[in-house]
Amino acid sequence: MSGTRKLHIKSFGCQMNVYDSQRMTDTMAREGYAEAAAPDDADLIVLNTCHIREKAAEKVYSELGRIRRLKEDAARDGRKVIVAVAGCVAQAEGEEIIRRAPVVDLVLGPQNYHRLPDLVTRAARDGKIVDTEFPVEDKFAHLAPASRAATRARGVTAFVTVQEGCDKFCTFCVVPYTRGAEVSRPVAQIVDEVARLADAGVREVTLIGQNVNAYHGEGPDGAWPLARLLHRVAQVPGIARLRYATSHPRDMSDDLVAAHRDLPALMPQLHLPVQSGSDRILAVMNRRHTRADYLDVIARLKDARPDMAFSSDFIVGSPGETEADFAATLAIVGEVGYAGAFSFKYSPRPGTPAAERDDQVDEAAKVERLARLQAEIDRNQAAFNARCVGRSFDVLFEKPGRLPGQLVGRSPYLQPVNVMAPASLIGELAAVTITRAGPNSLFGELAHPAPHRVAAPELARLETTLET
Ligand code: SAH
Ligand code: SF4
Ligand code: F3S
Repeated sequence: MSGTRKLHIKSFGCQMNVYDSQRMTDTMAREGYAEAAAPDDADLIVLNTCHIREKAAEKVYSELGRIRRLKEDAARDGRKVIVAVAGCVAQAEGEEIIRRAPVVDLVLGPQNYHRLPDLVTRAARDGKIVDTEFPVEDKFAHLAPASRAATRARGVTAFVTVQEGCDKFCTFCVVPYTRGAEVSRPVAQIVDEVARLADAGVREVTLIGQNVNAYHGEGPDGAWPLARLLHRVAQVPGIARLRYATSHPRDMSDDLVAAHRDLPALMPQLHLPVQSGSDRILAVMNRRHTRADYLDVIARLKDARPDMAFSSDFIVGSPGETEADFAATLAIVGEVGYAGAFSFKYSPRPGTPAAERDDQVDEAAKVERLARLQAEIDRNQAAFNARCVGRSFDVLFEKPGRLPGQLVGRSPYLQPVNVMAPASLIGELAAVTITRAGPNSLFGELAHPAPHRVAAPELARLETTLET
């Protein structure tokens, strides 16, 4: 292929899709495709889809409706547009997608992204292609790395997939089917990738996986657990902060807990989904842990690192969930004192055991429980944010804020922090004293006065404007 063509990728779903979309962009860049922010004049449109809940999956079809009109307009101008559907809906539905949406030329599953250049060429030449086989070769070894320029444009924080797939088979979840069995990337490949990112200015890396703490990648001396990988990645020059997501409570091993005590770069914040506070529902979900097991993991982590904060995912209205089960979920929110959490109404998914059960909860109860849970989560999040006022911690500055002279960065707990600070601090860590907490973000002042600080009364006024 030659000449510059344009590629537009739209990502739905989780962080792994964001990462995968970047790797597809990088791989197509090598083939001469430039990234287009909008689909309008793209030659190749990729939808990177999510199958986790019905609503997420259905989004693809409304998006494809819009794309059909774009493709028809382009055809009238004599321009051919290739439309590809990637991600978890592609894996789950395969050729059904082309039957339902004939605008689609190419369907490819998450394990086939390294074949994208070849598949696009073949789809343009020969017509419709579906590729959802699980290949034998290592996808990651064939995907192109990001250029320095692409990495810089993506900012000072980055995701790196270290593990993909899941062997846990929670009864509600499609991930083991859409992403396949657990696979860990080798240590050397990950360290190389992090070093490249750091060299281009990345300061914070989040190691991601569907079940990241089950990581067991090949190291120079046998399989390494996640804790060891974190220690190794922390040594990469330029990397100031590390995180990992998403973890399963069952795989929170002692060495990983200890890493939170021993590794200063590892942030004191963990996303550890519990899904439900009821032992009966946890058993139905096949989570393989009890409420007490979960609270014990939380206690061990707080022992290792007392300033640790937690977030979670919750599902309300799982099959068989009674008001008493739900009350146990509400109670665990306050017991842990989450810094934040995501809550979802249970969505029956084709092919999963929970969807087959005849004790489904009706929609009205789901809606009502979701609202009550969300209110409890919001209360806990606000309380956590309020407890941050008066504290000082390092903020990693990411980009300009909404006000002139303001920057936005992240606290160790991932809260956005708005600070009047010079643009030269972008990409730097600086100590900030938190002066005020909003519902979703914090406000603070540089602990060590910077060259052009705004006077305090003016700052207060500007903060008020921003918050409302
Ligand atoms: N691997 C992670 C996350 C998987 S998907 C984990 O084990 O926790 C992200 C979240 O979506 C899950 O934590 C769960 O809360 C939610 N989810 C998964 N399947 C769902 C379903 N069928 N209905 C509603 N929410 C679901
Ligand atoms: Fe889904 Fe459970 Fe695996 Fe998480 S651990 S991806 S919820 S099956
Ligand atoms: Fe969705 Fe697949 Fe991620 S189902 S949440 S995109 S692993």
